[in-house]
Order: sequence, then structure tokens, then C-alpha cells
Amino acid sequence: MSKIKNISFSYIEHEDQKELSPEDQELIKASEEAALSAYAPYSRFRVGAAIRLESGRIVPGANVENSAFPSGICAERTALSAAITNFPNDRPVTMAITGITDQGFTSESISPCGNCRQVIAEEENRWGRKIRILLASKDKTIEIDGIDQLLPLQFNRNSLRPGRP
Ligand code: THU
Repeated sequence: MSKIKNISFSYIEHEDQKELSPEDQELIKASEEAALSAYAPYSRFRVGAAIRLESGRIVPGANVENSAFPSGICAERTALSAAITNFPNDRPVTMAITGITDQGFTSESISPCGNCRQVIAEEENRWGRKIRILLASKDKTIEIDGIDQLLPLQFNRNSLRPGRP
């Protein structure tokens, strides 16, 4: 028998950044600063990500573009790669993401691209814990409690060995 199944997606929208904890506000600030250091001469779209590790340390990353377009990398993967490389035993807890165009900080939130969602999912799976995501913008901040919300029915390490624990 066929059935229609639904997957719902929930997130919190904060109209005022002051509703967030001082730590989260600091993390968003770090993502803004990271965005300012992006190398994005081709798209002129600068993105910054900042990851809060369990120790409290913040690891930033920005998008780095290339004249050979696929060689560029997004801010989220720059930050995650830096965190994993430099602090392999420190678990990522929260990631903040900010976008800047020639008009300044974006009014709408920047949501991670498909590639980045997959990479965030891998890191969640490595630790068996969710990574909170804060999508910052001029007008509001979106808070998402883990990548499941953005990447349902994901392909992950369990997909490689179906049926095994
Ligand atoms: N970009 C990011 O860094 N993160 C995202 O989540 C979306 C897109 C970058 C890639 C490229 O350098 C520029 O934004 C325009 O797509």
C-alpha cells in the first residue's frame, strides 16, 4: 500500500538579535568579521561562518573563490575544515553564518548550500551530536537545532552499510 509521508521542518526566528545569548551574539559577530575577509571577486557575495567549539573557542571561515569556479570553497566548509584540522578533539556545537553583498549585510538569511549541508551532516555523524545553526541577517536570525532540519533523508555513514548496526 502506498502512503504519503510528511517531514516537517521547524526553526526559531528571532526578530531581535538581543534575544540570543551573549555567546551566540559573539558568534554571529565573528561570522560577520569572517565574511569581511572573504575572497569573492567573482560573485561579490561574501559569506562568513563561525563555529563555536565545546571548549568555547571560535573558529572562523570565509568563502574563497577561484577563477576556475569549482575550485572555490564556501565559508561553512572553510570553517569546518579549519576546526577539524586544528582542534580535532573539540566538538563543534554551533555554527553562525552571515552574508554580505555590495549593499552590506543581507536582509535575508544565507542558508548553507547542498554541499555544505552534507559536510555539516558528516561532522554531526562523527560526534553523534547535533550542530546548532544560526542564520544571521540584518532583519532577523534563524535558529535551527541541527542539520536534519535542512537535510532530511540524508545519505550518511549508515547508508554505506544498510541493515547493519
Ligand atoms: N557561498 C558560501 O560560502 N556559503 C553558502 O552557504 C552559499 C554560497 C559562497 C560560494 C560562492 O563563493 C558565493 O557564495 C556565491 O555563491
